Amino acid sequence: MSKITVRAETAGDIRAIDVVNLSAFEGEAEAQLVGAVRGSPGFVPELSLVAEFNGRIVGHVLLSKVHYRHAEGEQDILALAPMSVVPSQSHRGIGKALLDEAVQRARDLGFAAVVVIGQPHYYARFGFLPGARWQLQCTPPVADEMLTAMELIEGVLRPGGRIIYPPLFAAIF
Ligand SMILES: CC(C)(COP(=O)(O)OP(=O)(O)OC[C@H]1O[C@@H](n2cnc3c(N)ncnc32)[C@H](O)[C@@H]1OP(=O)(O)O)[C@@H](O)C(=O)NCCC(=O)NCCS
Repeated sequence: MSKITVRAETAGDIRAIDVVNLSAFEGEAEAQLVGAVRGSPGFVPELSLVAEFNGRIVGHVLLSKVHYRHAEGEQDILALAPMSVVPSQSHRGIGKALLDEAVQRARDLGFAAVVVIGQPHYYARFGFLPGARWQLQCTPPVADEMLTAMELIEGVLRPGGRIIYPPLFAAIF
């Protein structure tokens, strides 16, 4: 039986990752964002993950640093974006395998929280909670219900804190 394996990207995967993102999303913005993040200070090489199925790269997820500012201080946490699975291979648990591994790696690296802007119903099953729970604000602004978050260190998210995405994310907001 074929197995889904998830591993960190290597230099040889870049074209295949492009293809996955171009096939999963309508335009080129997400594929371009991955390239831009790769060249930015927020890139964490261990957190750009590919999923292989039957020896082919069929999925990708990127977690990168965003700034979190609250009344008592500030720190880098992680944002998940984008995540993609080639349409022909969806609904096999590849998205779940990517997310489980990404969250585990983020925890192992000592990051305190992960935020995601996307369909709240999809991310809820992995433990992401509505940002409204912490009155989380976002720069640039997004609809409240689209912002969800997961604490990897309990209590790190404070009421009224703000997530600040690097400007290069503007392309997908
Ligand atoms: C979202 C995505 C990564 C899921 O990948 P996947 O490998 O199919 O995910 P899994 O197999 O682990 O889970 C599938 C389940 O997710 C749910 N799901 C998939 N896309 C969803 C969405 N946009 N909103 C809510 N739930 C969704 C479905 O309930 C599905 O359950 P089912 O298989 O019982 O029908 C994939 O559909 C994709 O690449 N979509 C286009 C790009 C995108 O929207 N990315 C996320 C935002 S960055």
